[in-house]
Amino acid sequence: MRIAIFSTKQYDRQFLNDANAQGGHNHELVFLEARLGPETAPLAAGFEAVCAFVNDRLNRKVLEILAAQGVQLIVLRSAGFNHVDLRAAADLGLRVARVPAYSPYAVAEHTLALIMALNRKTHRAYARVREGNFSLEGLLGFDLYKKTVGIVGTGKIGRVFAGIMIGLGCRVIAFDPQPNEESLRLGIEYVSFEELLAESDIISLHCPLNAHTHHLIDKAALQAMKPGVMLINTSRGAIIDTRAVIHGLKSGRIGYLGLDVYEEEEELFFEDLSGHVLQDDVFARLLTFSNVVITGHQGFFTREALGNIAQTTLENATAFATGTGTFHEVTL
Ligand code: NAI
Repeated sequence: MRIAIFSTKQYDRQFLNDANAQGGHNHELVFLEARLGPETAPLAAGFEAVCAFVNDRLNRKVLEILAAQGVQLIVLRSAGFNHVDLRAAADLGLRVARVPAYSPYAVAEHTLALIMALNRKTHRAYARVREGNFSLEGLLGFDLYKKTVGIVGTGKIGRVFAGIMIGLGCRVIAFDPQPNEESLRLGIEYVSFEELLAESDIISLHCPLNAHTHHLIDKAALQAMKPGVMLINTSRGAIIDTRAVIHGLKSGRIGYLGLDVYEEEEELFFEDLSGHVLQDDVFARLLTFSNVVITGHQGFFTREALGNIAQTTLENATAFATGTGTFHEVTL
């Protein structure tokens, strides 16, 4: 297939070209740096398939332009599909496929990295030592052992993360509208959302973003949490009401905040904006807190994950084109 691949970086080219050659797919891959949106959708003219990433915009307008140009398939280089208007895709006869699992370990391990950095203030210690400041004042942490970790969403990533925290000697409780047996076998204790908020020392979000989870962590949820709670979001930015969280940081309700995702990240993440003036005042305020660690959506960014993403993405295209192999379709 001829595939127009949007939002590509050097690493995407490398892993997709390798997977194309090693898997014997022979797709024609055309790499575009542009983010997919109404202005850039015309670049896909003459392509049968479009490959998109998390901050590409696949709303009705964009999908209409793609369909009108003869695009038949959207292959997502992601597990999440909240950025695709599936209703519009179905109306236009566009098929959508994703990478349902590529490495739950990558995101779960990055979640642990955020927790460790926040707890022991590694980000501050690193800067201090380089300045010749070896004082420990302000760096006091706590043992993770026997602390209660609340996991929202016990899917693939949530379960791997639970296993890690159980390994550290934590009590792991979870909320998920669809509890699963594997979690129970791991030793996770299911509780209500309210109990999770009230009992957790650390809360980590691993649910998808959808109409039910948009601003799940709002003012009321924050008020129900333990004072000084550690909140971690490696899932999707809009699961948290960022403005409410800033109030929570100012009042001390939130003692630590670790983010790998941000509500308005599409204007920021994956680009080098170091030479520009930051225009997002909410994000700028978050950066002023010393008990906040933010990474730019890098949870997925391991060699293993990129290899698997590239492989499954091209397998989806091959399955669509030939009718053989697994097609990981996303439907309404
Ligand atoms: P999954 O589909 O295996 O698991 C999601 C779990 O959330 C399911 O058990 C589901 O029942 C549960 N859930 C649904 N609605 C819920 C609600 N209202 N409250 C609590 N739980 C709810 O997904 P997976 O692979 O574990 O990924 C989770 C999320 O992680 C993805 O949706 C994506 O947004 C995010 N992600 C982030 C990455 C990063 O680089 N930071 C990379 C990959 C995924």
